[in-house]
Amino acid sequence: MMSKKLFIETLGCAMNVRDSEHMIAELNAHEGYELTDKADEADLILVNTCSVRERPVHKLFSELGVFNKLKKEGAKIGVCGCTASHLGKDIIKRAPYVNFVLGARNVSKITDVLHRDKAVEIEIDYDESQFAFKDFRTSPYKAYINISIGCDKQCTFCIVPKTRGDEISIPPELIIAEVQKAADGGAKEIFLLGQNVNNYGRRFSGNEEKVNFTELLRRVSAVEGVERIRFTSPHPLHMDDEFIEEFARNPKICKSMHMPLQSGSSEILKAMKRGYTKEWFLNRAAKLRELVPNVSISTDIIVAFPGESEADFEDTLDVMRQVRFEQVFSFKYSPRPLTEAEGFTNTVDSEIGSHRLSTLQAYQDTILDSISASLLGQEVDVYFEELRSDGYVAGRSDNNVLVKVKGSEEWLGQTARVRIIDVSRSVQYGEIVA
Ligand code: SAH
Ligand code: F3S
Repeated sequence: MMSKKLFIETLGCAMNVRDSEHMIAELNAHEGYELTDKADEADLILVNTCSVRERPVHKLFSELGVFNKLKKEGAKIGVCGCTASHLGKDIIKRAPYVNFVLGARNVSKITDVLHRDKAVEIEIDYDESQFAFKDFRTSPYKAYINISIGCDKQCTFCIVPKTRGDEISIPPELIIAEVQKAADGGAKEIFLLGQNVNNYGRRFSGNEEKVNFTELLRRVSAVEGVERIRFTSPHPLHMDDEFIEEFARNPKICKSMHMPLQSGSSEILKAMKRGYTKEWFLNRAAKLRELVPNVSISTDIIVAFPGESEADFEDTLDVMRQVRFEQVFSFKYSPRPLTEAEGFTNTVDSEIGSHRLSTLQAYQDTILDSISASLLGQEVDVYFEELRSDGYVAGRSDNNVLVKVKGSEEWLGQTARVRIIDVSRSVQYGEIVA
């Protein structure tokens, strides 16, 4: 029998990547779907959407139109993820050929909506924190594992709490069982996922033993076969000493930390309801750099949030100057429906926003040039996980430097010592020394 084919496009964050893996697993185990990378051959086309900024939402509808034209006779189209959560049945109104809409907190219902034409499942308090998903992993070398669903913060710019709902931690024993299974399957690197990982343990749906994130990290690192642990995203507010010290002390935790700054101005941080000040952020970053000299720190920054003055923007540049982030993801503020900041009237002129964004990016480039220059000649341990088509294998150092080396698949899943022989802002080239 010919198997049914599934084409899936995944936009947005790592959480979406994992949600897609869950949907692929469920559809394969219960409905016999196999993945294809050709949309025109698929019996089911899924778009797993992101709604954090506005542009992807516009793109979604034109893209759905393209899928509708090229799809096979009788093939279905489903819209999943955060945009599905917040637009709901309006998606089917705007694009009537869409067969179902499945919200970001309703992933486990994928095999159900598949059989109900025009189904819309976007229940925001649905609890799938203990759902036993079937298994599928895109990479055998690195395992994404969810530790919580939803987000309890109310950052005024962010739509995520409205699309993914309240935060519920997944019970520690389920997480550890999944880590063990992934490690048994050969994944030496475990990537823990949540919107606010270091808030872990505040709320479980059952009467769970109260385990915090630091304790969870200890338990994950005790699992046999686990060599590297990464996680995203922690929140700077919850970076207490205990957490930073465990991060520094535990050799299995990769020395790369994401610290989403958003703004360097304490005034703007207050308007964003981030819960920390410029000084707190600088203090935490300094503590990290002190305890972990080779740590790499990445961040997210929003420019032109309502009310941001030139002086506020200068504060952001000042934090960049002091912390010298190894990686900066920067965005111009985009007003989102269902958020508090959508109603703020003190908006910043769009051209000023664009100008600030390019000023910030140009400044970060000068920092990156000096960071990458200092990498030349250094030796780092790289865990190879990706075969590139240009005769290279790629992987990351413990502190998240992306390194490419001439080589073939024999290196995949292996760790090797590499000397950096050529550098650029985003990827470094190396040769294996041992
Ligand atoms: N807790 C998640 C946040 C997801 S949103 C995390 O820390 O990864 C990812 C990033 O998108 C945020 O950190 C923020 O910098 C950016 N972002 C969120 N809402 C935005 C908006 N309305 N406009 C511009 N950027 C936004
Ligand atoms: Fe969004 Fe803030 Fe949560 S950025 S995902 S509301 S921590």
